[in-house]
Amino acid sequence: MLKKKILKALNDHINAEMYSSYFYLAMEAYFQSISLKGCAAWMRVQVQEELMHAMRFYDFVNERGGKVTLDAIAKPETAWTSPLAVFEAVLKHEGHVTGLINDLVDLAINEKDHATNNFLQWFVSEQVEEEASAAEIVEKLKLIKNDTSGLFMMDAELGKRVFTMPPPAAK
Ligand code: FEO
Repeated sequence: MLKKKILKALNDHINAEMYSSYFYLAMEAYFQSISLKGCAAWMRVQVQEELMHAMRFYDFVNERGGKVTLDAIAKPETAWTSPLAVFEAVLKHEGHVTGLINDLVDLAINEKDHATNNFLQWFVSEQVEEEASAAEIVEKLKLIKNDTSGLFMMDAELGKRVFTMPPPAAK
């Protein structure tokens, strides 16, 4: 059985992951609007990944006998000035999510909830990857600057990303 404090924090985090998905969907729409189809495809994978993250939390709450409580999802930002600005926003957002995951781990440890701590470790590793991939794209876009052919090559590269479902969460 989940302690009240942990249940509230996990439910809040379902909302945070759903927001992440919505935020990246807004970015996909931005890329669609400027015809960068590869960047849009990369964002679609990101949207799917965030939904999968939310569902991992959703399933975990249910498995632990807690009640999932869904809240309203905040309106995301919808306009950016450049592809670089978008990916800088991704990097910043992922840093924020890493902080949320770390806070959850701290709470699980303080509450001696080892099962929740164990569940969260997958996300600790995932956040390292999330931040690294966003940082790499930011660095490349900075190198490209205003080189249109470089941007088109980058767009084609990002368009190759595919969504793969990871193995089920540890229990
Ligand atoms: Fe679910 Fe990108 O963190």
